[in-house]
Amino acid sequence: MSRIDELLKYAGDYDKLIDVGCDHGYLGITALQKTTASVVFSDISEKCLMKARQNLPSKYAKRAEFLVCDGVPNIDADVVVLAGMGGLNIINILKNSKANISRYILQPMNNIEKLREYVYSRYEVVIDDVIIEDDRFYTFLVVNNVPKFIEINDDIKYFGAFQKPISENKYKFLLYKRNIIKKFLAFNEQSMLQLKSIDSLLNERSNNKE
Ligand SMILES: C[S@@+](CC[C@H](N)C(=O)[O-])C[C@H]1O[C@@H](n2cnc3c(N)ncnc32)[C@H](O)[C@@H]1O
Repeated sequence: MSRIDELLKYAGDYDKLIDVGCDHGYLGITALQKTTASVVFSDISEKCLMKARQNLPSKYAKRAEFLVCDGVPNIDADVVVLAGMGGLNIINILKNSKANISRYILQPMNNIEKLREYVYSRYEVVIDDVIIEDDRFYTFLVVNNVPKFIEINDDIKYFGAFQKPISENKYKFLLYKRNIIKKFLAFNEQSMLQLKSIDSLLNERSNNKE
């Protein structure tokens, strides 16, 4: 299943979805194809929004709206998707959102720990998992817009591991991360040995000069 299909799987039943930062508009277009809901395509960039407009099959035009907008437009909706953006940008957008939104689907590209710290202390996080597409891992969070506070530990902060047992995708992600960290630590160990060697050779040289 593609990243976009997977994200939409968690939208639940909805009459209106806002695809914020829609760019090419593929997510919103897929939502129009799969449901009878209406979709607002919004992007801070007029050029990006134009791409979405051009990609939209005309038969969906009646259910689609296009807006150039920084963040969430002031339109009430069942679901807002914020995908493919930086975690800090997503935090900023959530902070400034004035609309009445029932659910957010967040798929940050970086600063995921910061986003978790922000979101877990304010909203009800119902899913925090990983999508695998073309051998790449994408973390996503499904968040209900109801107040909730969870004190996060390292398992949650780094890996969103509050659902047990962890999913198959998260299991694969943990193995992948473990491999990277082990390589990194081995590299550090080698660097320490090299540094020791360098220092001793430099010392030897300066001692010989004296
Ligand atoms: C990498 S694209 C992601 C496209 C699509 N959402 C996806 O997941 O495939 C990021 C898009 O977010 C838009 N964007 C960045 N900051 C934004 C903001 N504050 N408000 C609205 N759109 C924003 C960019 O213009 C760009 O089109």
